[in-house]
Amino acid sequence: MKRESVKVPELGGASEVEVIEIAVADGAAVAIGQTLITLESDKASMEVPSPLAGTVRGISVKVGDRVREGDEILVMEIAGEAASASAPPVTPASTVTAAPAPAPVAPGEGPAPAAPTAGGVVLALRVPDLGGADSVEVIEISARAGDSVTEGASLLVLEGDKASMEFPAPADGTLLALDIKVGDRVTSGQKLGELRTAAAAAAAPVAQPAAVVAAPVAVADVAAPAAAPAPDVQATLADGDAVAAITRVFEKETRLAAGRAPSAAAAPVYAGPAVRQLAREIGIPLDEVRGSGPKGRILREDLRSYVKTRLAAPPATALPTVPDVDFAAFGPIETVALSNIQKATVTNMSRSWLNVPHVTQFDYADVTELEAFRDSLKPEMEQRKNKLTPLPFLLLAVARALREHPRFNAALAPDGANLVLKKYCHVGIAVDTPQGLVVPVIRDVDRKSVWELAAEARELADKARNRKLKLAEMQGACFTISSLGNIGGEGFTPIVNAPEVAILGVSKLAVRPVWNGQEFLARKTLPLSLSYDHRVINGADAGNFLSFLVVVLGDLRRLLL
Ligand code: COA
Repeated sequence: MKRESVKVPELGGASEVEVIEIAVADGAAVAIGQTLITLESDKASMEVPSPLAGTVRGISVKVGDRVREGDEILVMEIAGEAASASAPPVTPASTVTAAPAPAPVAPGEGPAPAAPTAGGVVLALRVPDLGGADSVEVIEISARAGDSVTEGASLLVLEGDKASMEFPAPADGTLLALDIKVGDRVTSGQKLGELRTAAAAAAAPVAQPAAVVAAPVAVADVAAPAAAPAPDVQATLADGDAVAAITRVFEKETRLAAGRAPSAAAAPVYAGPAVRQLAREIGIPLDEVRGSGPKGRILREDLRSYVKTRLAAPPATALPTVPDVDFAAFGPIETVALSNIQKATVTNMSRSWLNVPHVTQFDYADVTELEAFRDSLKPEMEQRKNKLTPLPFLLLAVARALREHPRFNAALAPDGANLVLKKYCHVGIAVDTPQGLVVPVIRDVDRKSVWELAAEARELADKARNRKLKLAEMQGACFTISSLGNIGGEGFTPIVNAPEVAILGVSKLAVRPVWNGQEFLARKTLPLSLSYDHRVINGADAGNFLSFLVVVLGDLRRLLL
């Protein structure tokens, strides 16, 4: 067994390039020509094929490394001399990586003489040796005569039976002509068009590592001065099958797109180097992009559409949406538009429910004495023309409870780092109206009498039902009472009216048996349910708050204490 170090080949002018993909694993059996790694410069990407057949024994680079010519890529173990003996046509990597010079590959043609122009030289663009394939189809043309093109920019795409390849501009310059159209079948050496190089490009040989991966076969009759012969490119093409080379590119695209090792099951992804590079920069997985080019080829425009669609989609953290069901498919329906208040309720309830971790605690207040007291006030109610329901008593009891438990008269600051304690006592009351639920606010509840509270509650409720409430009358609440009154039910879980931190639900008063330690007594009890924001209030706080209410409502004299 012999070990060989495989090194980074000549980089076609680039001093340092990035390793963007490692295509083999340690211990993997590798064939000659199989891609080992992919390198990328700021202009193009190139694959480094294996110069040997053997087994990988230690990879010296990792994705993201920047490497130079001669750096070790990996060590390979070769069984005997046979493998390396079979390799001579493909010398270590250099045969397929460095393509520093344009290559005259048209069979039987030598380098054409330069056609000097004011701007540079004219290059004849020719189909490369197709390695045995009779012809390939022009499936995409990305430039027109007169276009200024930059070196490496895709001019057109050719497609064989198995894969496609881009034909990049061999130099910066102006495209003088493209003598083909989409659908044409072209053969090795056929002239495709002409490109006049920019003056600067004409002064120096054209280095084009881009051609290696995108078009190992990109060719031109180059009339550039000092046009170096291109034995490397010729060797590659002569040695391998161009279609197979194209297939490797195609396979690589698939792997890159899927972010995994080569797999027979991977769906093909057609995209050129420029598109792939852009996709990598933005982080777009190519296998999620639908190509709109010929045969599903992914174009730049497809990347734009993909990004637009993704930006328009709900963020990943959004809740899954409720299915949009066609109810008419199951029976007759009627669609009724929501009022503005109802629409606002949709938003407000969702916001509170989603933002506030709710907990609800339940208890019963023995209001037998309160009800007796209220009964006793009936003549006075008539005299004052002011009816006392349980609600004003609840308002008073809540005001006292808020004073005793200031954490309930608070709001959590949006940054979640502070609690805003309110030194005033405004309480909202939920009012059911034909237009929807409205919550007017009674101000300074702690400073008002039961009579005042009763009158104000009624006035606000009437205003709410007659759509006369002003915005200011619905703002500033510290706490909310939602009384279902005599509507029914033994309890419910009201939703906190955020940024308030708690809400009291009141259900229907009923006579229930209460154990006094010796016997069951028939008592009038009021079901209470306290929902609270568990970020601010813990269960013990809530238990104390609710017990306080139960005690005060059970014995109104305690309001004097
Ligand atoms: N149990 C039994 N009866 C009750 C009661 C209770 N908890 N609360 C009130 N009542 C009685 C009242 O004493 C009154 O009786 P009466 O007519 O014999 O005197 C009757 O129910 C109607 O009271 P109401 O007119 O509703 O006054 P109120 O002061 O109790 O309530 C409002 C005023 C505005 C809160 C109320 O009318 C209302 O709209 N409640 C609905 C709130 C709501 O929809 N909440 C749910 C939000 S999700």
